[in-house]
Amino acid sequence: MPKQFLKFPENFLWGASTSSHQVEGNNHNNWSVWEKGNANRLAKIAESRYSYFDNWGEFKDQAKNPSNYISGIACDHYNKYEEDFDLINKLGMNSHRLSFEWSRIEPEPGKFNETEIHHYKKVIKALMKRNIEPMVTLWHWTFPLWVSDMGGWMNAKTIEYFNRYVQTIVAVFPEVKYWITLNEAEVFARESYLIGRWPPQTKNRLKYFTIVNNLAAAHVQAYEHIKSVNSEVQVGVANNNTYFEPVKNRWYNKIAGRILSIWGNHYFLGRVAFHLDFIGLNYYFHNPVNLGREDHVKCQYSDLRWEVCDYGIYHVLKDISMYKKPIYITEHGVADAKDYLRESFIKGTLSHIYKAMVEGVDVRGYLHWSLLDNFEWDHGFWPRFGLVEVDYKTQERKIRYSAWKYADIIKNGGFEYEI
Ligand code: BGC
Repeated sequence: MPKQFLKFPENFLWGASTSSHQVEGNNHNNWSVWEKGNANRLAKIAESRYSYFDNWGEFKDQAKNPSNYISGIACDHYNKYEEDFDLINKLGMNSHRLSFEWSRIEPEPGKFNETEIHHYKKVIKALMKRNIEPMVTLWHWTFPLWVSDMGGWMNAKTIEYFNRYVQTIVAVFPEVKYWITLNEAEVFARESYLIGRWPPQTKNRLKYFTIVNNLAAAHVQAYEHIKSVNSEVQVGVANNNTYFEPVKNRWYNKIAGRILSIWGNHYFLGRVAFHLDFIGLNYYFHNPVNLGREDHVKCQYSDLRWEVCDYGIYHVLKDISMYKKPIYITEHGVADAKDYLRESFIKGTLSHIYKAMVEGVDVRGYLHWSLLDNFEWDHGFWPRFGLVEVDYKTQERKIRYSAWKYADIIKNGGFEYEI
């Protein structure tokens, strides 16, 4: 196959993403409380859930240990952010997506903690000093305890309180040009209110839809407020869109895939579409739709047993281009402790992003998930998503080989690829 140099635009954002609860350490929110109450249970189910993985031997000791499920000091990024931003510089990235932790900023209703706001001021300054463009998520799944106590997004009052927090923050961070109001609204609603794996572990279809609708309303209000303060800043959401691939192009798989996509990919996005300056796309999944249970070619699997399929992003991008908004890939990555798959997944995915761009899709950046190995929610610490490996005992950081390969792509503004 012929090789071609895939050249990305000069002003393309290249970066990596994190979220506060997953990296900072010492958070006190609804997740940190839930972790403590559920660590033993999660350790017990890990064995039965994953024992059929070929590579489970590498992880099972960690996964069987309840301490794996307690975020604790995580990556101690709260204290080590300068060091971590130096790594971003070393890898040549020009942007970074991070989140502000609502529970730190407003630990009690209406009482904003000036010390924590000052902390995030220093964090943003540290990025800017290094010429790294911050993209800030205002809510990445965790609540202050007083919000979860009143029912989280089930309570419509949360929309109002979230907006009070947003207004306070936006007023003191005029230097931030990219705001992401909410991370993966639908995933949160599904995991917490439909499947019931995450706090508050509810399984109720009606509540699931209430949550998605309340999140959409919260975004719309936040969007309107942020834009009224400064119409220049860019406001979006980060949405997790999946490629539902119809196996063997069977008509029934196509119909089922379309229905799943309308629900999973578009229900929330459609509600906020008129209040977006950009779409943040979090892409991980490829879900074959196979009603006839036919044999079909599978992609490789990550350590979490997710199917790692690079071409899915092309279909997802073409699909969301109908909203006619600029798109930033705000997350894309793989749990890959041995770093076997990451480089090829990045390159393969970028090649499909490139293909969509050539066909007119307006993609403006790629931010890999994640900068660091981190706390992977109800899986705890064993899945390794980082471009940078973290030794949780010593808090030492080590740049992975694939990260250097990503750095080469950034340095050259693209890469040679067989297409
Ligand atoms: C979330 C991250 C998470 C990543 C990998 C995304 O859906 O936004 O918080 O760590 O997926 O599971």
